Amino acid sequence: MSERAPAIVIIGSGFAGLGMAIQLKKANFHDFVVLEKSKGLGGTWHDNTYPGCACDVPSHMYSFSFELNPHWSRMFAPQPEIRDYMERTADKYGVRDHIRFDSAVESAEYDDAAKRWNVTLSDGTVFTPKAVVSGIGALHIPSFPDLPGMETFQGTAFHSAEWNHDYDLTGKRVAVIGTGASAIQFVPRVAKQAASLTLFQRTPPWIQPKPDRSIPAPVRAAFAKVPGAARAFRASIYWTLEARAVGFTIDPRLSVPMEKLARWHINRQIKDPELRAKVTPDYTIGCKRVLLSNDYYPALARPNVEVETSSIAEIREHSIVTEDGREYEVDCIIYGTGFKVTDALAEQRIVGRDGLKIQEAFANGIEVYRGTTIPGFPNLFMLLGPNTGLGHNSVVFMIETQIQHVLSCLRLIQDKGADAIEPKPEALRSFNDKMHRRLRRAVWSEGGCQSWYLDENGVNRTLWPGHTFEFWASTRKAKEEDYTLSY
Ligand SMILES: Cc1cc2nc3c(=O)[nH]c(=O)nc-3n(C[C@H](O)[C@H](O)[C@H](O)COP(=O)(O)OP(=O)(O)OC[C@H]3O[C@@H](n4cnc5c(N)ncnc54)[C@H](O)[C@@H]3O)c2cc1C
Ligand SMILES: NC(=O)c1ccc[n+]([C@@H]2O[C@H](COP(=O)([O-])OP(=O)(O)OC[C@H]3O[C@@H](n4cnc5c(N)ncnc54)[C@H](OP(=O)(O)O)[C@@H]3O)[C@@H](O)[C@H]2O)c1
Repeated sequence: MSERAPAIVIIGSGFAGLGMAIQLKKANFHDFVVLEKSKGLGGTWHDNTYPGCACDVPSHMYSFSFELNPHWSRMFAPQPEIRDYMERTADKYGVRDHIRFDSAVESAEYDDAAKRWNVTLSDGTVFTPKAVVSGIGALHIPSFPDLPGMETFQGTAFHSAEWNHDYDLTGKRVAVIGTGASAIQFVPRVAKQAASLTLFQRTPPWIQPKPDRSIPAPVRAAFAKVPGAARAFRASIYWTLEARAVGFTIDPRLSVPMEKLARWHINRQIKDPELRAKVTPDYTIGCKRVLLSNDYYPALARPNVEVETSSIAEIREHSIVTEDGREYEVDCIIYGTGFKVTDALAEQRIVGRDGLKIQEAFANGIEVYRGTTIPGFPNLFMLLGPNTGLGHNSVVFMIETQIQHVLSCLRLIQDKGADAIEPKPEALRSFNDKMHRRLRRAVWSEGGCQSWYLDENGVNRTLWPGHTFEFWASTRKAKEEDYTLSY
């Protein structure tokens, strides 16, 4: 393999990039390189090291189907264990040598004459593969709010995905902005350390009890030794989680028992009626990601924690001022404010056939055939692309399905002796029209909340609107009639 002209470039080494690399190896294909901007592999599980970071889909399901791990220590493994699993898996399948770290891709441009992509790194290096698989993830660019005076703050400030482990929070006056999936995991830990914690909440999340426990050694031994035990357990988790999609996608009224459980959780863990009222959402459950936690509400009830619901008006050198005029002196601000999602894709420098910029292709909204391929962009494949995210199950399942789709496209090219493949515009139209009809009546649009699932026009460009087995059944094998091959 020539390092600069591999047949395939994969961008990213999270679950998506890693899974793609492994499946290529398993297909006995070795002419590829993985370009990763970080210094290590794992994506989400490399970057997010905040205290309490863990998955919220049970680990036996939140892992590769071809690499079951009978040794998960807990139902919801902590971040270091997930990162180690990914490292081990990369080594086992021999893909580490294919990964080039510190390699941030700046642009990808299709060369019509050569029928190859020019993939350019920030250091100017150019790779010229026949195909590009983008596994860049949706949650890796930290989003900071645009608050007046932010830059004047003289204390320590950092984002949850860029945790400052050198800063000792012990005895400090800490402000946390945001109450999403990340914040609810680190707030209980920070509350125990800090002198005071002020939590700035814009919208309360719905939170259910987390069925988390350590997995006893004999059970782990059984998963390792009894044939089929780990797979049967995974299947039981899969179907339990799939049941949640019914309420989210068919009729939100079917989620009433979920909402009752969440209300019971608040009432059981918080006694103060004022705090109860503050943390009780006023939108339909499922509209934002439903969170799981056993220690978040007890942390909010601690005497050193205050939940502030008035909006932030201004940040000063040593304080945060709210719209209702209260001023909080703080030493540190932690931004638990999430990631840039839908706008990140539109900002990319990707140029397809005939000089078509991705922004032009997305002029009427981000639309990608089966979240994977785009007309005008030959041999470009996206993993966990638009509308393949989930609110109810493991996205690793979706990623693996898309990887099968990519492999079947590559096989089509090979079998037909073609140079390139791209989806037909009419296939994209029909796929998207059907999907958006379903999305319009789903809880994410109808549930009365704002979320990062929706773009600036309120259109859901993020989630898959149905069961994951529907996506698997319709997507894992590319349909030849939906694609154009060029020779
Ligand atoms: C804290 C946290 C917890 C989560 N927990 C769950 C969970 O429990 N269940 C669930 O289903 N989902 C969860 N998610 C969502 C999670 O992002 C996905 O499950 C999954 O990890 C996505 O994998 P990925 O490979 O698509 O993306 P990522 O893991 O984000 O990997 C993308 C990789 O691409 C690299 N990259 C990006 N741009 C470039 C570039 N231009 N050049 C080179 N490299 C680039 C990045 O550095 C990164 O390594 C969680 C997300 C977060 C942030
Ligand atoms: N496995 C897990 O447990 C886990 C852990 C972390 C992350 N994740 C994944 O990663 C995604 C992102 O999670 P995240 O918690 O990092 O981000 P997030 O869910 O987008 O939450 C961001 C939080 O910041 C708040 N916020 C944003 N701007 C604000 C402002 N200007 N003022 C006040 N508050 C502001 C948001 O309030 P609003 O709600 O009002 O917008 C929200 O509470 C999740 O949806 C999930 O998919 C999963």
